[in-house]
Amino acid sequence: SNNLQQNRLYTRDSSKNEKETIIRLLYSIGSRKEVEQYLRHFASVESQKFAVIKVGGAVLSDELDTLASSLTFLNRVGLYPIVLHGAGPQMNQLLENAGVEPNYIDGIRVTDAKTLEIARGVFLQENLKLVEALERLDIPARPITCGVFVADYLDKEKYGYVGKITGVQKKAIEASINSGALPILTSLAETPSGQILNVNADVAAGELARVLEPLKIIYLSEKGGLLHGETGKKIDVINLDEEYENYMKQPWVKYGTRLKIREIKELLDRLPRTSSVAITSAGQLHKELFTDCGAGTLIRRGYRLFK
Ligand code: ARG
Repeated sequence: SNNLQQNRLYTRDSSKNEKETIIRLLYSIGSRKEVEQYLRHFASVESQKFAVIKVGGAVLSDELDTLASSLTFLNRVGLYPIVLHGAGPQMNQLLENAGVEPNYIDGIRVTDAKTLEIARGVFLQENLKLVEALERLDIPARPITCGVFVADYLDKEKYGYVGKITGVQKKAIEASINSGALPILTSLAETPSGQILNVNADVAAGELARVLEPLKIIYLSEKGGLLHGETGKKIDVINLDEEYENYMKQPWVKYGTRLKIREIKELLDRLPRTSSVAITSAGQLHKELFTDCGAGTLIRRGYRLFK
């Protein structure tokens, strides 16, 4: 499928020149050697195994153009990241407008019928917004808003229309990539009989990664990385094998940060050692991916990046 990709890239008019331009651009962020090494590394696997990118809702509303151009960039060098987005902040705004108080239990959004209705509308709207932004830049993209995540009710009494993912169907994702379009997913799931359920976008991204086993799982946020609770500085790398226990002992590693680190460890424990997580911003994505020193927070099990 890599050959297919290359052919597609070269047969489009002037796309060879365009690819060269993009690669020259890449060299301006890192040395030729490192950029080429990472390009080769990311292109060495099947197209759908390059990356799952989880995009927070805030990125879609505040940094849409930056996001679209970063994704365009990856696609122009022949890579097909699988994008999954949330819409949390947009949801909260709409709920507020509708006079519905957002309600969380154990960090899970309790979803009644009204909340689900709003969620569905917002997810579809945000999804289309990203797809259209990409197509304005001439990047074919497909909205994939159902048919991927199969779910059961997590606990209908307690959380309402919230799903627990029981299966991931890759067909629509693969079909999109095979036709040369970036797959853009929302984090809505369905029961086998078609009831839509709300799922947390981080959880959905994790489930997707478990099934696809990509080299990179990327979380894009405006913060651009994981921040150290005491120094306030961005953490460069976390090597889970050596540092996990110690991080968990730190008094500042609590609530969301604790959950996040634990979930990332559980995810990476079940993936090949070559997989790693990057937490970065839309604008720094290419620097994180194509240079040795990166630009966000890299989380991996051990030291060795390559097999
Ligand atoms: N570009 C390499 C990768 O994507 C290394 C990134 C290093 N990042 C960091 N925050 N230290 O795996």
